[in-house]
Amino acid sequence: MITQSPLKLAVLVSGNGSNLQAIIDAIEAGSINARITCVVSNNPDAFALKRAIKHGVTTVIHQNQNFSNRREYDSALVQILKDHEVELVILAGFMRLLSEIMVNAFPHAIVNIHPALLPAFPGLHAQKQALDYGVRYSGCTVHLVDCGTDTGPIILQAVVPIEHNDTEETLSARIQREEHRCFPEAIRLFADGKIQVNGRHVHISP
Ligand code: GAR
Repeated sequence: MITQSPLKLAVLVSGNGSNLQAIIDAIEAGSINARITCVVSNNPDAFALKRAIKHGVTTVIHQNQNFSNRREYDSALVQILKDHEVELVILAGFMRLLSEIMVNAFPHAIVNIHPALLPAFPGLHAQKQALDYGVRYSGCTVHLVDCGTDTGPIILQAVVPIEHNDTEETLSARIQREEHRCFPEAIRLFADGKIQVNGRHVHISP
């Protein structure tokens, strides 16, 4: 029997890290054949760093202000990820846009989660955008990262109905429940070699 070696992941974070936690839990439960070789944060105070340390995962703080522009920041980021032998980069609440330096260094191998049904409501405050617009359904999208803002090919989506009294907080909490299910599932598909990309279309093998 041929056993595939675990896919080497980097998880990039800026804040709470609940998605990081869901990924760690899925790996520890044995449902994803992957290993997190590093968690990188641009925010030294991110709670996500504490979650990583608690689970014995290597952390790297890579702060914005140490670099004069996005390309310099990303060049150093690529080096950090290559030093950790990363194969798939996971953006789990990483609140920075990536330049072509990062996108070209990891072709079809950077994945983001966004709290809306793309292409609706890209960018910041997606839950508020959805409520303000008056849609009946929102949700979350796991997608590949290109140089645009939340424009890359879509891997998985989950729908969350809007409720009558929803606030940004209540909607965000229900969307996060779906994120914590979808993101590990998408990573599992990569780890099992089931993802193929053809232009804008992501094919998932049965
Ligand atoms: C998640 O809800 C994710 O969808 C969102 O940040 C949150 C991070 O939560 N990302 C974006 O808005 C990116 N455009 P977490 O730190 O608890 O995982």
